[in-house]
Amino acid sequence: MNESIINPYYDRLPGSYLFSTIAKKIKEYQGTHENADIIRLGIGDVTSPLIPAVIEAMHKAVNEMGVKWTFRGYGPEQGYDFLREAIIRGEYTPRGVEMDPDDVFVSDGSKCDVANIQELFAADAKIAIPDPVYPVYLDSNVMAGRTGTLQADGHFSEVTYLASTAENNFQPDLPKNPVQLIYLCSPNNPTGTVLNRETLQKFVDYANETGALILFDGAYNCYIRDENLPHSIYEIPGARTCAIEFRSFSKTAGFTGVRCAYTIVPHELGKLRSMWNRRQCTKFNGVNYVTQRAAEAIYTPEGWEQTKAVIKDYMDTAAIIRKELTSCGYTVFGGEHAPYIWWKLPENEKSFDFFDRLLATCEVVGTPGSGFGPCGEGYFRLTAFGDQEQTKVALQRIKERL
Ligand code: MLT
Repeated sequence: MNESIINPYYDRLPGSYLFSTIAKKIKEYQGTHENADIIRLGIGDVTSPLIPAVIEAMHKAVNEMGVKWTFRGYGPEQGYDFLREAIIRGEYTPRGVEMDPDDVFVSDGSKCDVANIQELFAADAKIAIPDPVYPVYLDSNVMAGRTGTLQADGHFSEVTYLASTAENNFQPDLPKNPVQLIYLCSPNNPTGTVLNRETLQKFVDYANETGALILFDGAYNCYIRDENLPHSIYEIPGARTCAIEFRSFSKTAGFTGVRCAYTIVPHELGKLRSMWNRRQCTKFNGVNYVTQRAAEAIYTPEGWEQTKAVIKDYMDTAAIIRKELTSCGYTVFGGEHAPYIWWKLPENEKSFDFFDRLLATCEVVGTPGSGFGPCGEGYFRLTAFGDQEQTKVALQRIKERL
C-alpha cells in the first residue's frame, strides 16, 4: 500500500489514547506482580448495577422484540419519540428550559458525538479547548488536521487553550485569539469543577457576538448538587443561537456498557441542525429499542428515585475521598458537584511519575492530570465511581504507605 493515501494527521497524535495508555501500564504491572491487588480509581467507569426500573423496562422491551406484532427493526436515526420526549420532560422542563423533541438526537454515546461533531466544520476552523479537559475534543481535531503541530510545551500550535486552574477558580477566561469553535465541559472532566452562570454567560455573549459556536459537554450534570448552578448551557440567555449540548446516560444511569446518550442541536442553529441530522442518517442507524426503553425508564418516578440513590452513593464516595486526602494534608478540588477528585500533587511531582509511584507503593490506579492537558501537570484524578469499600481500602493504603 502507498502510504501517501493515509491521513497524515494521525501521526501528530502523541502516543495512544489516554485510557489505553493507562490500561497498558496496569497490564505491564500485573505481568511482573502476579499477586497484585490493584484498586482501580482511574477511568471513570461506573460500578453500580443498573437500577431495577431499567432492568424491568429492558425485560419488557426484550419480550416485545420476541413477538411479531411488537417486534421493531430499524428505528429512527434520531431516536424514538418516546425517549426524546422523556428527555425533555425529565431534564429540561424542570429547569425551565423549553425544548423541541426534534432538537434531541439520541445516540450511542457522548464520546462518539463529541468526536463526530467536528466533521460539520471547516478544516481551517480555529478551536478553543479548556485545559485540562476530556482528551477526545483535542484528539478528534488532531485527526481532522485542525490543530497544527505539537510543541515542546505540550500545546498544539493552532489550538487556543482555556486554562482552568486553581488560580482562576476553574473559571476560564475568554479565548485570547479569534476562534470559531469553543469546547466547554461542565462539570469538568477531570477537575470536577462547575462553570458558574457568570462564566457561561460570558462565553455565550462572546459566541453570539463573534459568530462562534459552543460545544458544551454536560455528561456529568446530574452530579451537580447546588441547584443554583447551571446544569445546561440552555439555562443561559442567548445559548440557543450559539450552542450544541452533549448529554449521556453513561454516568447518569450506569450505561457505560449499555450505550445511550443524546445531543441537542436547537433549530435556532438552522443549517447545522440539518447537517447533523444528515450526518446521523448517513452514518448511524440509531440506538436499539431495548436500550431506548431502558433510558426512558429512568424518568419514571421510581426510576428517578433509584437513579438519584445511585448518584448519592457515588457522591458519598467522593466525599470520603475528599475528606481522607484533606486529612492527610493534601489539597483537592472537585468531588462536590462531580464524581472526580482533582488532587494537587505535593512538591509538583510529575503526574505520570506519581501514577507509577502510587501503583508501586499502594497498588492504586488513578489518572495522571497531564493526560488531560498541560495545565493538568502536577495533578492527579481519582474517580468516585469505584466500589465504596474498595475505595476506602485504597485511601487507607495511601494514608499508610505514601
Ligand atoms: C473518563 O474516565 O474520563 C471517562 O470514563 C471517559 C469517558 O467517559 O469516555
